Amino acid sequence: MKILLLGGGGFIGCHITQKLLQSTDHLVNCYDLFDARLQDSLGHSRFNYIHGDIRHDHTRVEKLIHDADVVVDLIAYANPSLYVSIPLDVFNLNFTENLKITEYCVTHQKRLIQFSTCEVYGKTVASLLQNQLPDHDNPAHAVFQEDNTAFILGPVNKHRWIYSCAKQLLERIIHAYGLEDRLNYTIIRPFNFIGPRIDFLPSEQEGNPRVFSHFLDALKTGEPMKLINGGHQRRTYTYIDDAVDCIVRIVENPNQVCDKEIFNIGSPDNEISIRDLAFKMRCIYKRRWWRGQTELPEPIEVSGETFYGEGYDDSDRRIPDITKAQQLLGWQPRYNLDQTLEYSMGYWFNGEEGTSWIPQFT
Ligand code: NAD
Ligand code: UGA
Repeated sequence: MKILLLGGGGFIGCHITQKLLQSTDHLVNCYDLFDARLQDSLGHSRFNYIHGDIRHDHTRVEKLIHDADVVVDLIAYANPSLYVSIPLDVFNLNFTENLKITEYCVTHQKRLIQFSTCEVYGKTVASLLQNQLPDHDNPAHAVFQEDNTAFILGPVNKHRWIYSCAKQLLERIIHAYGLEDRLNYTIIRPFNFIGPRIDFLPSEQEGNPRVFSHFLDALKTGEPMKLINGGHQRRTYTYIDDAVDCIVRIVENPNQVCDKEIFNIGSPDNEISIRDLAFKMRCIYKRRWWRGQTELPEPIEVSGETFYGEGYDDSDRRIPDITKAQQLLGWQPRYNLDQTLEYSMGYWFNGEEGTSWIPQFT
């Protein structure tokens, strides 16, 4: 298959590329602004990197889509600090530019695999009705199912939700094209993937990455680990190899089971609060890598507005229902939370070679 990965130079895209190139059946074209994460794949005979900015390159992107068998769209601003600091840019890239990709797929009758987000689900009912729900901490309130769960977002002045909203609207348009039989698609909603090559360390590069990279940086520098609004919010973390295993099954689409389907991809058993994440990462670091280089960092509490700026709001909790991926694709995540964190951290503390001790499931 000729596969076009738009945004294939990013964290998820570089891992998909590596996995696809292990099969002799695929030609992979990656279009991105950057190729730094693709060093292992550059030079491979079935791989081609195309440097470009989708906002100023419409003719070439349309031609690439025309020439592909399947299009995987990963391009987005995917970092909460940007939803708050540049909401219009987030909307323009994640919705307006991505909609053009959808429309090119309609025009040229190409199958589209669109990366959406678990953030479309927003907040839990329990977070709104806390005092009225006697069992508000019951995980059942936070299990999100692709085709049944309603979406609960914050008010407009909490502009963090523009990311979720842009992704949601794109999903709805893709679904509508599907209804008219003008587009064959699959939508993927990832739940907090982590692993080697995610983001960057803020002490080494300007910017405000996702929490895993902030906590890693704190371990390296000894600076405090910041718990936003107390760190009581919870996430389920998915190891990138598990995620890519599912994504590649979706790309290969056995018996067309993924046609016009939406899939959650996540590890429901790997739930943790952000506060506990800080302590767990510190504990793993102390056991595996700490030799007294710096003081171990202390977690401190910081408000969301101080850390991100005005307009920040948050998902309180989100657990994926993965029954659909299990039943249609025979997929099952295999890495527990400790493995997920230890293997992801190993890349940063041991270097790329540090991942060689990670068990390879076949
Ligand atoms: P990422 O930022 O690492 O990857 C996005 C890629 O898009 C980057 O390589 C970036 O250079 C590229 N890009 C951005 N603007 C571009 C432009 N104008 N032209 C060309 N390329 C451009 O993010 P990721 O974590 O790999 O996420 C990939 C997709 O999955 C995104 O759509 C994101 O919203 C979604 N997602 C990811 C997660 C996760 O757990 N990582 C969770 C939910 C949703
Ligand atoms: C992320 C991003 O929106 C996307 O990458 C993606 O769509 C999705 O969620 C995902 O990865 O599945 P979020 O989980 O909120 O959103 O992103 P993080 O920056 O990793 O934050 C997680 C939690 O940690 C948030 O509650 C945040 O407030 C908190 N946080 C962040 C801290 O407590 N300390 C920090 O230093 C940074």
